[in-house]
Amino acid sequence: MSRDFLPFAIVDAVEDQVQDAPMNQTPSHTTNMLPMNEGLLQLPADPFDGLRQWLDEAKAAGAAEPTAMTLATASSDGTPMARIVLYKGSSTSSLGREAAEFYTNYESRKSRALIENPRAALVFHWNIMRRQLRFEGVVEKVSVEESNAYFQSRARDSQIGAWSSPQSDYLQDRTELLARIEATKKRFGESKIPCPPFWGGWRLTPSRIEFWEERPFRLHERYELKFENGLWVKRRLAP
Ligand SMILES: Cc1cc2nc3c(=O)[nH]c(=O)nc-3n(C[C@H](O)[C@H](O)[C@H](O)COP(=O)(O)O)c2cc1C
Repeated sequence: MSRDFLPFAIVDAVEDQVQDAPMNQTPSHTTNMLPMNEGLLQLPADPFDGLRQWLDEAKAAGAAEPTAMTLATASSDGTPMARIVLYKGSSTSSLGREAAEFYTNYESRKSRALIENPRAALVFHWNIMRRQLRFEGVVEKVSVEESNAYFQSRARDSQIGAWSSPQSDYLQDRTELLARIEATKKRFGESKIPCPPFWGGWRLTPSRIEFWEERPFRLHERYELKFENGLWVKRRLAP
């Protein structure tokens, strides 16, 4: 996936001492033993580098599903809904900015909400790290070529599943799903399985990102990065 993003500057609206503090002090379940003045976050200039760093640290610490994130959407009447999807890397959006990708069925409930109201939020929670990372922004579909490329990288059984499951629709029983899977297997035989036209990626271009890390007595570290007038502006938030 492409990483040639437009350059941007960070405007730092946070106190200087925080800038100099190391971000790589890996917290654990013992985080709440840290003295209040230790382990302050230092955000990388690029918020996606911060995401990559936290993902790597969560993986190294043995997080069960490090790329799992809650995707919150709202229908056009404002009804909220949320579910977990997997983060599948980043790419450049039509806004020329780095954006977070996930893949799903374009006829699912979440996709219907995103089509009606193309705004969403993503939340990672790495319990093992006592960290939360939030993204809020606008979404768009990735290109058909990108969806095809990702689909071809998936396991064949997952490809068959994507063709077979009318995601979010009602099923009579599990037999109906299994029958659909058998029909898909018969349809494609041993041949290459193309990406279904009703399946693909979405990317969320964030305008607001928040890094959260646990501290004693619920006096947690919180930083907001907000995209304002072409720049990421960083501010500390009260816990
Ligand atoms: C750990 C985990 C990972 C998941 N990853 C995805 C995913 O990447 N894409 C997806 O469509 N559904 C994924 N799901 C299933 C969704 O949470 C959800 O059940 C499904 O997408 C239907 O949601 P909807 O009816 O709101 O569209 C995942 C669920 C879990 C628990």
